[in-house]
Amino acid sequence: QPSEIERLVDVENATASRLIFTDENLFRLELQRIFTRTWLYIGHESEIPKNGDYVTRKMGNDPVILVRDNTGRVRVLLNSCTHRGTLVCRTDSGHGRGFTCPYHGWVFSTSGALVATAEDNTYGGKVDFRSLDLRQARVGSYAGLVFATWNHDAPSLDQHLGDARWYLDIMFNRTPKGMTVLGLPHRWSPTNNWKLGPLNFGADGPHAVKVHGPIVDAALAGGMPGARAMITKALVDSPSVAAGPYNGIWTQGPLEMPPWFGYDPDLVALYKQTLKPEQVQILERCLASVGTVFPNFSWVYGPIGFDMQREPVTNFFAIRVWQPIAVNRTEIWNWFLVEEEAGEALKQQAMLAGVRTFTAGGTFDQDDAEAWHGIQRGSEGEISRTLDVNFQVALNYRDRPIADWPGPGVAYPRITARSRSSTTCCSGAPTCPARAEIRRQRLLPVCKRPAARLFLESSE
Ligand code: FES
Ligand code: FE
Repeated sequence: QPSEIERLVDVENATASRLIFTDENLFRLELQRIFTRTWLYIGHESEIPKNGDYVTRKMGNDPVILVRDNTGRVRVLLNSCTHRGTLVCRTDSGHGRGFTCPYHGWVFSTSGALVATAEDNTYGGKVDFRSLDLRQARVGSYAGLVFATWNHDAPSLDQHLGDARWYLDIMFNRTPKGMTVLGLPHRWSPTNNWKLGPLNFGADGPHAVKVHGPIVDAALAGGMPGARAMITKALVDSPSVAAGPYNGIWTQGPLEMPPWFGYDPDLVALYKQTLKPEQVQILERCLASVGTVFPNFSWVYGPIGFDMQREPVTNFFAIRVWQPIAVNRTEIWNWFLVEEEAGEALKQQAMLAGVRTFTAGGTFDQDDAEAWHGIQRGSEGEISRTLDVNFQVALNYRDRPIADWPGPGVAYPRITARSRSSTTCCSGAPTCPARAEIRRQRLLPVCKRPAARLFLESSE
């Protein structure tokens, strides 16, 4: 007999109950069984360059501190005093030698150790202070990206990322010094389920043609005759890739578009030195790259210029975390990145291009936010919640992956239902190192499942 969870999903038909976006119990299970068990993106190393630097973040609904301790080691500490539990750090970011709890004054070092309390006779000499250090998450770092997990039995971060690293390298590891964060993160809190963002960034190319159509016109048509038709075709024909915990879309520019469109020539020389030729081949014609690393880390990247007659076309690069707040509320964290080697002028242009497009007031995000808010409102009613979410797209390509795709994992010539959304765990390769562990822990589904499967199976 299929479980109640399984009855919510039709795998072959690529549909799922709308309860995946509206059910309170399912949301709670996601927090318990996904966000406490798998690797989560916390922040970028360039946000805490010096010993003693820290920022505050969240892992699921747990507050944490990302800190570089006084030996230079990056740690993720639970932001909850081991005495009565209040937040020991209340600022978004800062620098210091430790954290003093505001309630009774216990002091914790940057490595999380409890180093001072009130006079011992306050506690009668009976308390074992050695067991009262701040709780620490397991930390892993890849190309400056800091991830953490509460699961000390999980595969290493390298194993977890697996084949995804090939694609992450194109984005984050393509120059000798790598990426740096521009400014502070932007945050906003839309009224929709947290999964709508990862799904959109991981596997929804076609929405760009409709909801972003006018801005594509505005951005490109001025300087490129026939741009709308070309861009539409490029978006529809975008290769979609699934590799390890990553799912994404690599929109290749139309032939009319010059190679290295929007790139700084000095940086292109560094890409060619740093990346493999196959990775360079994907990057040089990349019109846009969006992707999601399970469960809630995404990026969006591409050239933008609002008036190509007057402004240079500059690549923007945004990364983000979709933080679950409630079943119908998400907090989005958004950072802009640029190559460390970029000149100051380029850094400013990249920031401007990003702010105009992908942040709370960005043109693209405003488009998407309206649609996602609409999904939530359109799925919460007594009638509408009984309907399905339809993930069917390009079903005729489901069994026709690109034979000579240069990267690992599996790629399809279009965004297909079989290409597995951001919500699945693994490329499907029998050798996927994380797969056995994932199945053993019943964290995630086995591979070759459409989108909603993950969230449903993870709740079993
Ligand atoms: Fe932190 Fe008491 S709650 S010292
Ligand atoms: Fe969009």
